[in-house]
Amino acid sequence: MMRQFFAVMIAGSALAAEPATFHRDVLPVLRGKCVACHNADGLGPFPLDNFTDVRKRAGQITRIIADGLMPPWKPEGGHFAWDRRLSAVEAATFRHWVEAGAQEGEAGPPPQANPDGWMLGEPDMILTAAQAFAIPAEGRDLFVHYVFPLGLGEERQLRAVEVLPGNRRVTHGALGILDRSGSARERAGKDGRYELYGGPGFVPTGYTPGYFPGQAARAFGDSAITLTADTDFVLQVHYRPRGEAMTDVPRVGLYFAKEPVVREVSGVFLGCEDIRIPAGAGEARLRDTVTLPVALRATDIRARMLRVGVGVRVWAELPGGKKIPLLKISDWEREWEETWRFAEAAELPKGTRIYAEWIYDNSSANPRNPNKPPREIRAGETEADEAAVVWIGGSVAGWIDRVTLNGANLTHYIDLATAAHRRK
Ligand code: HEC
Repeated sequence: MMRQFFAVMIAGSALAAEPATFHRDVLPVLRGKCVACHNADGLGPFPLDNFTDVRKRAGQITRIIADGLMPPWKPEGGHFAWDRRLSAVEAATFRHWVEAGAQEGEAGPPPQANPDGWMLGEPDMILTAAQAFAIPAEGRDLFVHYVFPLGLGEERQLRAVEVLPGNRRVTHGALGILDRSGSARERAGKDGRYELYGGPGFVPTGYTPGYFPGQAARAFGDSAITLTADTDFVLQVHYRPRGEAMTDVPRVGLYFAKEPVVREVSGVFLGCEDIRIPAGAGEARLRDTVTLPVALRATDIRARMLRVGVGVRVWAELPGGKKIPLLKISDWEREWEETWRFAEAAELPKGTRIYAEWIYDNSSANPRNPNKPPREIRAGETEADEAAVVWIGGSVAGWIDRVTLNGANLTHYIDLATAAHRRK
């Protein structure tokens, strides 16, 4: 609090003394919070890494920042890694700069070139999509699942995963999904991939970090993912058409542990399969709760809803009664779903209860409602369906805990699916 106060004072006095310039005041903020997407080969519709482009759009940028529309970031509160939110000082910088006449100022040294290869070094195994995927010029966002049977033949431990998009202009994000059921392979057939808007279409054995503009590749630190000999790796890539036809060939680098790692990457699943949101319902809520059968060191969180999902809350109640908020989103957009990494891991002891609540607006007042007029919406994987999923990723003490937690997740899913089936 105090530090922030002084930062405001210092920034305020510096700005009072000298008018803000692009190179000294604005560019560092753009590089920190915008340029990961807004560069010539990025996801953003135009580059924001140079004076000419930024000056041209100065008014639009100040408005969009004041309205909170950019940078894209969904969670409210909380402390996350790669947080793109602008501080009050950063947001004010743009305004001060425009008010002072949007001057260029003196250019500093150019940034270090962005290494275009593997951030984590040469992988032990590289998975490359068998054929390029064609992204049409127009249309809705696509979720393509590339299926890679690993053919490991024996159990291996993964200590890191890195995803390299072939085309960052259309790649909105990517997620690694593990499958031991053979379902993904079956769906993919001989193409080695399939498209499905709402999710992978099976219950994953687990997730791995994927790709999001601006996020660094993540190694698992003191833990590893144990892959059984029969595990398939599924890369879910989220594409956004960009007004011209493009292609992509994504790659995944796998890094195996040289020595056995005791702590194992795992996570807990919450969801709802019995989804029926009446036509016109302005606020429908679904809830789920689970009790952790083992201690989990929670590092990441994801949620999934589709087009009429508007909000999600996730919190933990420790055995002593202490409540820890984990995720709160009030303006959900499927397009900006990503893996949010906690700035500091949350230690959740065995017996912790985790609660999730999903909120939907199936009225005609919701501009994202796929049905006009609204219709009853049920669980499913097309754009006209809905989902209610939360995944909290992290690590557990060892393989027994991993097996216990995976088993509990599966049992929980079967219970949810059975309940939904009974109501049919
Ligand atoms: C994670 C990627 C990402 C980041 C980071 C990001 N943008 Fe964007 N931006 C986009 C995309 C994609 C669009 C196109 C519209 C959309 O998809 O919502 C966009 C659109 C815009 C637009 C045009 C909006 C319109 O109405 O057409 C402006 C202006 C903009 N961004 C400014 C910024 C600024 C300023 C920052 C940093 C403070 C920033 N963006 C950070 C991805 C990003």
